[in-house]
Amino acid sequence: MCGIIGYCGDKNASTVLLEGLKRLEYRGYDSAGICVGIDKALKIVKCKGKIKDLKAIVPENFPGNYGIGHTRWATHGEVNDVNAHPHTDGSGKVAIVHNGIIENFQTLKNKLQREGHEFRTETDSEVIAHLIGTFYQGDLEKAVREAIGLLKGTYGIVCVHADEPNRMIGARNGSPLVLGVGEHEMFLGSDVTAMMAYTKQVVYLEDGEIVDVTDKGFRTSDYDDREIAKEIDHIDWELQQIEKDGFPNFMEKEIFEQPESIRRCMSGRLDTELATGHLGGLNLSSKELLEVERVKIIAAGTSYHAGMVASYLMESMARIPASAELASEVRYRNPIVERNSLYFAVSQSGETIDTLFAMRELQRKGARVLGICNVVGSTIPRESDGGVYIHSGPEIAVASTKAFTSQLMAFYIFALSMARMRDMSYETGHTLLDGMKAIPDQVVRVLEQKNAIRDLAMKYSSSENFLFLGRGINYPVALEGALKLKEISYIHAEGYSAAEIKHGPIALINEQTPSLFLVPDDRLREKVISNMKEIKARQGKVIAVAVEGDEEVGDIADDTIFIPSTHELLYPFLMVVPLQLFAYYTALDLGRNVDQPRNLAKSVTVE
Ligand code: AGP
Ligand code: GLU
Repeated sequence: MCGIIGYCGDKNASTVLLEGLKRLEYRGYDSAGICVGIDKALKIVKCKGKIKDLKAIVPENFPGNYGIGHTRWATHGEVNDVNAHPHTDGSGKVAIVHNGIIENFQTLKNKLQREGHEFRTETDSEVIAHLIGTFYQGDLEKAVREAIGLLKGTYGIVCVHADEPNRMIGARNGSPLVLGVGEHEMFLGSDVTAMMAYTKQVVYLEDGEIVDVTDKGFRTSDYDDREIAKEIDHIDWELQQIEKDGFPNFMEKEIFEQPESIRRCMSGRLDTELATGHLGGLNLSSKELLEVERVKIIAAGTSYHAGMVASYLMESMARIPASAELASEVRYRNPIVERNSLYFAVSQSGETIDTLFAMRELQRKGARVLGICNVVGSTIPRESDGGVYIHSGPEIAVASTKAFTSQLMAFYIFALSMARMRDMSYETGHTLLDGMKAIPDQVVRVLEQKNAIRDLAMKYSSSENFLFLGRGINYPVALEGALKLKEISYIHAEGYSAAEIKHGPIALINEQTPSLFLVPDDRLREKVISNMKEIKARQGKVIAVAVEGDEEVGDIADDTIFIPSTHELLYPFLMVVPLQLFAYYTALDLGRNVDQPRNLAKSVTVE
């Protein structure tokens, strides 16, 4: 969601800004713009649409060595050229880009208008530029400090002033901002991908920090101007990881990377000798882990589905009561933090504001919250009380795929270790461990069926509605399958527990509404088969994902995808991959933009 890039140095700023914005495209946006400082004047080019549309209107050899750029995901004001960022004050000397929402913008705007300021846009962000302009007396940092003192809401801001070339001021509260430190050049960005082509030395800013950046260095301070010493971190991702690497798009690349990404998540964390798992970074002693009486998981979207699977796991493997809840609901529910509860905040990006704010609320109430995140250095892992990186590598496609299977693996490792500390026998631990180790190769076998799954997707792509049905630990997988399909193909899809359909959704069944059933060979198989028959009896089409050799399911279903057999608790890994491929090929067949589906953002940094 929204991308920010700022640059000052010796390169051509518009080239660096446009490249940075291109790399931030994956976050999701609807308009874009840049502002470059040239000869004590600011030149702005912006428009609705994609970076290629912006590139088309940026004059060739656009001079200037410093500037700011933005991809907007509109919250206040229509998506159009005028509302695109950067925004300026009345004099045109101050330019800002902003990510987030200024909640008190209307009050500030009314006041500024009464004082004679003319507003050109409908955005909340424009007030920031006017405020800075009002306070400016020759020192941009000072003016920014005074202006943000009046703001309520969330922001990542970068600001430049025409009279102070090669200087930019950044500030954050709730929206991410990273500083990139290069040789004679500096960057500010919403995330490291924006600057990775130029530097791997970064400084993560925290909420309540302001950074004053010139091409020679930087100074970080708090809102009261107390200097804050920051450490420079080194990014260990390679540029090639954020490129398509021969695949037609990122989503396909990421689906097919899963054998490797799951393996990476397990690497060094499984202990064959003791049939258990080890996760460094939890910051909990064995004694503290033994005292855990409850596990609670907070997350959004796909990460929430991983959390739901984890709640089944914690209960069945470790016999610890567990539940998953939507982070957006937790935050405003005045949650009760019980003693000996352990919380997990699950987030691929580590920046989802619903999850971050729920985590902060829980921490305020004394909860210990561990993070399960992918993006190293992002806000949730930095603010959590410990946690696990899933090491999936950058996930660029908006629809999350490889992060989901690695989030699952992190939870399996945790559940195994908790179970082995409690009741689980060595033998059972070993059976599970062997099953986990086999997953990457079994995922390869599922991926090998891509052509059959593509044909199936094409057969059903004209359907307007879909049901995804599973039970037990595969119920959240059904939810995830439905989410994937609706996100990228825009076909209406609902996930349900297969048992629930008779309580309502079965009314939707007719020949045009296919139902996709997840049928593992577990103790609920017979029940799911009965649910399939209920659909067939009502002329509904049935697609099944079943275990190799399950002829009975093959006979009932109109179409079946077969997956390898595994331990009954491990099916979510093998069940979700065909659903990802199904959604992917359906979207391709319908000509959708699979990497950047309409209206969606990768990193949801507004509430
Ligand atoms: C996944 O396909 C979605 N785009 C979305 O639901 C996502 O999982 C959600 O926004 C949470 O993101 P996070 O894992 O980065 O916190
Ligand atoms: N609230 C601002 C707007 O609507 C910024 C949105 C964003 O984060 O991109 O313009």
